[in-house]
Amino acid sequence: MGSKEKIPEEDACLPYFHGALMNIDADQLLVNDGDFMVTMKLQIDINKLQFFLAVRLKKGVRRYEIKRSATQAKMATRSAANIEKLINLLKTDPVEIKGEKVVLKRAIAKGKFQLMHKDVIFKKKIGAGAYGTVYRGRLVKTNEVIAVKKLDPESADEDGLAEMMKEARVMQLYDHPNIVKFHGFILDDLPYLLVLEFCNGGSVEDRLREKGPKITTITRSNYTYMAACGMDYLHKKGCIHRDIAARNCLIHKGIVKMADFGMCRAQSVYKMDLTKPCNVRWLAPEVWDTGETRFNTDVFAFGIMIWEFFQVPYETPYSEMKAGQVKRKTRAGYRLPAPDNMPSEIDEIMKECCNAAADKRPTAEKLKEMLEAVTKKKKSQSTSVSSSALTPAAESTNTSKVSAISSPPKKQEESVEKNSKNTKKKKYAGPQKR
Ligand SMILES: Nc1ncnc2c1ncn2[C@@H]1O[C@H](COP(=O)(O)OP(=O)(O)O)[C@@H](O)[C@H]1O
Ligand SMILES: [Mg+2]
Repeated sequence: MGSKEKIPEEDACLPYFHGALMNIDADQLLVNDGDFMVTMKLQIDINKLQFFLAVRLKKGVRRYEIKRSATQAKMATRSAANIEKLINLLKTDPVEIKGEKVVLKRAIAKGKFQLMHKDVIFKKKIGAGAYGTVYRGRLVKTNEVIAVKKLDPESADEDGLAEMMKEARVMQLYDHPNIVKFHGFILDDLPYLLVLEFCNGGSVEDRLREKGPKITTITRSNYTYMAACGMDYLHKKGCIHRDIAARNCLIHKGIVKMADFGMCRAQSVYKMDLTKPCNVRWLAPEVWDTGETRFNTDVFAFGIMIWEFFQVPYETPYSEMKAGQVKRKTRAGYRLPAPDNMPSEIDEIMKECCNAAADKRPTAEKLKEMLEAVTKKKKSQSTSVSSSALTPAAESTNTSKVSAISSPPKKQEESVEKNSKNTKKKKYAGPQKR
């Protein structure tokens, strides 16, 4: 783990060392004239490590390379035994570079979401996605269980880091019981990491595959309600998730939480690149005409997810069709039929979500209200009916289907869509994944 060229511990531990923090993020922290920090650039393909002093001067943020050897740190005409000593020297005796006096006034420390490798321990792999591997781990300080999303080394170039930081930037803004909590990001060395709340139940998709018929209608209904609460919160924060699917909802102690903000955009309309692989099976048909994703395209995907939540045994939506066929048929108005055990009220809601007229789909808030009402009704019905009639066992379908439920997902062969579970990419290839 880590780059071949090791980052000296004494540098990594400096409070104002921000590791591979990207320029746009650094510039936001450098607010006043004289604010400064130290950053690095790792070019993994050529194993090159560079350090920089970033400082806001009157005309803007400047970056100067610090040449670092095992025994020396050097910038312009100044040199010292290490970076800390060099910075202290520059503070007391500023240099002038290209006619600008480099005055260092305030060292900018790492923010609350900037963690370090030494803050986390992780070993056991719990998942894999489009550009990384997910592990279970612990926060050293509090012993809290966490999930660590690792950007795989082959994806850890500028583009991969930029994608990872998109996810980190939006996740920092959210705090809601139905959204996976964000602890922070780690950029002080390779591998780059995102640190998240650990969800002990894994993804809803995995749960549906494993527990299948044992999951009651009330539980399924409650899952849809909790997911809708998460989506409503996101939309109210002005953010389109863009990858709503059962695989991206996690469960922790029975609570469903939205996760995987890798494709999420903090804007109300986002034009996507339709030439790239995408999540065809969850994509609203009008997107093929406009290329635009909006809150109501999330609602369409939510409709498909409702279907996933009720399909027993679990299967990928339109599993008998190839992606091209899904695209053609949904554009022509075809919709997934309601699964056998889906209550008619939920079928109605699913149909509304998948309305061809995007502006007729319910808002996330309305959806939340409707799903809350149905879930409450189902719960009250179950308590008023004789208990044996609604035990999980009574709701279970034929148990001989169990083996089918735990069988691996069908392989998708189409080039037009990507499914992280089936297609492990070597390198991050853009934001649209399935
Ligand atoms: N916080 C978490 N707790 C438990 N498991 C997780 C967590 N985050 C991700 N996983 C597991 O890893 C898988 C991939 O994570 P995800 O965030 O969807 O990554 P990707 O963007 O690569 O698809 C999930 O489907 C889930 O099984
Ligand atoms: Mg995912």
